[in-house]
Amino acid sequence: LQTAVLNRTSFHFQPQRNWLNDPNAPMYYKGFYHLFYQNNPLAPEFSRTRIIWGHSVSQDMVNWIQLEPALVPSESFDINSCWSGSATILPDGRPVILYTGLDVNNKQQVTVVAEPKDVSDPLLREWVKPKYNPVMVPPSNVPFNCFRDPTEAWKGQDGKWRVLIGAKEKDTEKGMAILYRSDDFVQWTKYPVPLLESEGTGMWECPDFFPVSITGKEGVDTSVNNASVRHVLKASFGGNDCYVIGKYSSETEDFSADYEFTNTSADLRYDHGTFYASKAFFDSVKNRRINWGWVIETDSKEDDFKKGWAGLMTLPREIWMDTSGKKLMQWPIEEINNLRTKSVSLDDCYEFKTGSTFEISGITAAQADVEVTFNLPFLENNPEILDADQVDDATLFDRDSSVGCVYGPFGLLALASSDLSEQTAIFFKVIRRGNGYAVVMCSSEKRSSLRDNIKKSSHGAFLDIDPRHEKISLRCLIDHSIIESYGVGGKTVITSRVYPKLAIGEAAKLYVFNDGENGVIMTSLEAWSMRNAQINSNPTY
Ligand code: FRU
Repeated sequence: LQTAVLNRTSFHFQPQRNWLNDPNAPMYYKGFYHLFYQNNPLAPEFSRTRIIWGHSVSQDMVNWIQLEPALVPSESFDINSCWSGSATILPDGRPVILYTGLDVNNKQQVTVVAEPKDVSDPLLREWVKPKYNPVMVPPSNVPFNCFRDPTEAWKGQDGKWRVLIGAKEKDTEKGMAILYRSDDFVQWTKYPVPLLESEGTGMWECPDFFPVSITGKEGVDTSVNNASVRHVLKASFGGNDCYVIGKYSSETEDFSADYEFTNTSADLRYDHGTFYASKAFFDSVKNRRINWGWVIETDSKEDDFKKGWAGLMTLPREIWMDTSGKKLMQWPIEEINNLRTKSVSLDDCYEFKTGSTFEISGITAAQADVEVTFNLPFLENNPEILDADQVDDATLFDRDSSVGCVYGPFGLLALASSDLSEQTAIFFKVIRRGNGYAVVMCSSEKRSSLRDNIKKSSHGAFLDIDPRHEKISLRCLIDHSIIESYGVGGKTVITSRVYPKLAIGEAAKLYVFNDGENGVIMTSLEAWSMRNAQINSNPTY
């Protein structure tokens, strides 16, 4: 039991007890950030009939106050659960929610509107469901249980509202985002063709659709559409949050994406680790777009009952277009830095010869933020091509293999025991590819715990950099049972859940390591202990 308690996080969003899944309807309203979430209030497991909307508010998205549930099953259209949805701020400033109701009729999935009872309450504690609900029901080419998760609505040039619903075509594995339009948010008409669809993905859950500026980091309101934005469409399927970028016109209702979803590792992903059902919103206070994702437990159901809780949100991540216009960048919002306390740093360069490890001591390694940069000294311009192209992903992402590597594995060992029998390795490898080099970034849970009945995956992805000209940097946010790793300023992100048995509390250690054949230079290191955030610890009801 003690281990289970020590695996609880200290600065990640979660309810005090029981089950959490998708983030819903994040928004800013009258001085408060609101976050709603899928919640089974009665047990630390998903429920097939009683999912409600938990609700918390915050002034900094770091410290949260728990309010009473915002939506609970009560009417014929949502009596079997209130599933995921989104908020839209109307032009007059009023927020409105669209969510998925599981109705009396065999849990058919329908779309429901909810409005604040009292718009003068900045906490938006009470929500009403007008009698005219539901406002959408599954169309005939879609199964009754594959029609859900309305997006935030946006306004087209003609002044009409648009919204997407995640769906799947009957009798096929074609996933799609169905477009609905409305003048008044009440009467919704299905547009004849989906905004986007892809064969072979299965059901698209929790679609998200928003503009991203191509001229800078600033976010824009969801209804903005002009020459300086491109649009992102995200869909959750196959266990991943995948996205495409393209150009959207509300006049032709055409979204032409740069590529198609393939349901393979070729799809662009927000996060290459444990991460799902994310939702972004535009923060008008600081003009940025922020994304939240759900991180499921990867221990067993029995463990979840011992802990009494299951499910976390990632840290809120700022999201923007990289300079190529082809990919998104992500970074924890700056407010997270306010939790940084005691720090250690290294000013000099430090060479890591093969087989070396170096302990970063003097901080609370179970609850830390660490940034480290590496330089690789001798990369030739035209390397002799080896057959590294033939190395399969399983070998590439394996912490214990250096097959095909010029450098690496090197990186951090987080939540490690002093004998290293427990460790989560967040590492890089450099391999020869084409006339140059490719870099992989991985998070290996293989030795993350001596406990059994825990999923221990090796997550990995290619990092889009040329190591001859760019330094390899890594930031890891370590919080007892979660490690969020950001490669090269947020080009690649990997989230891991881990449940150490020895590396808990004060016994947890943090190391830099190099197991590669060639030495690497660490050019900077800074690490901080992190304070506890106030996470829903004082329910107000
Ligand atoms: C995604 C999801 C959504 C659904 C919700 C139910 O994780 O399955 O499609 O609305 O969770 O809690």
